[in-house]
Amino acid sequence: MRTRLNKILARAGLTSRRGADRLVLDGRVVVNGEVVTSPGVLVDPTVDRVEVDGRRLPASELLEYVLLYKPRGYVSTVRDPRGRPVVTDLLRGEHGRLYPVGRLDFDVEGVLLLTNDGELTHRLLHPRYGFPRVYEATVEGRVTESNLPRWRAGVTLDDGPARPRAADLVESGAAASRLRLTFAEGRKHEVKRYCEALGHRVTRLTRIAFGPLTLGPLRPGQTRPLAPPEIRALRAIR
Ligand code: URA
Repeated sequence: MRTRLNKILARAGLTSRRGADRLVLDGRVVVNGEVVTSPGVLVDPTVDRVEVDGRRLPASELLEYVLLYKPRGYVSTVRDPRGRPVVTDLLRGEHGRLYPVGRLDFDVEGVLLLTNDGELTHRLLHPRYGFPRVYEATVEGRVTESNLPRWRAGVTLDDGPARPRAADLVESGAAASRLRLTFAEGRKHEVKRYCEALGHRVTRLTRIAFGPLTLGPLRPGQTRPLAPPEIRALRAIR
C-alpha cells in the first residue's frame, strides 16, 4: 500500500512526524536511489527501497502499532461471519493491514492493541509472560471493603483456578458496585466469569490497561499510534 513517506518514517517509531519531515527536507532520505525532498511523496515500503542516512529501512521499521479504545458493539477480529462491526472498521485508511492482539468481548470496551508485528503478538499472548491487564467492572449488587478478601482470594472456574493480582473497590452501591481488577492472563471471558462465580453479574466492563498501555485521553472509537517508548516497553516484556 502506498503511504506518505513521513508517515512511514514516523509510524515505525523512528522519529516523530515532524522529525520525519526534517529528515526528508535535509536530504537524508533516498527512495529507489534518488534523494527525495517532499515528505508527502507516496511510497510503498514493501516495494520501494527506502534509505535513511544510507541505511535501508529494515522490515522491522515497517511495523505499525496502534492503540484503539475499542467501543462496545465491535468484534475483535478483522472480519465477522455474522456481519457485525469489527475493530478494524475503526482504522482510518492510512494504516496497512493490522490485527488485534488478543480479544475483548463484543460488549467490552477499552485498550486494544493492533499491529502487524506477528512476533510481538505471539509473545504478548503467551501465558508465560503474564503481564497485567487492568479492568474496571461494574457489577450488580453491593460489594463492600469487607468483601474484598474474598475477591482477592480467587475461585475455581471450569477451566481452572483464577485469582486476580489485585482487586479494589472503586464505588459501592446497593444496586451496583464498581471494582478495579488486575489479571495476569487473557482467558476467555475471565473477568465476567470471575465476578459471576462470586455472585455478581458484570453489567459493564472496560479494560483500562494492557501491560504498559493505557487509554489516556482517547475516547471510545479513537486510535493513536504507540509512542516509541511504549513500543520499547512492550518489546522489553519477558
Ligand atoms: N474478561 C472478560 O470477561 N471479557 C473480556 O473481553 C476480557 C476479559
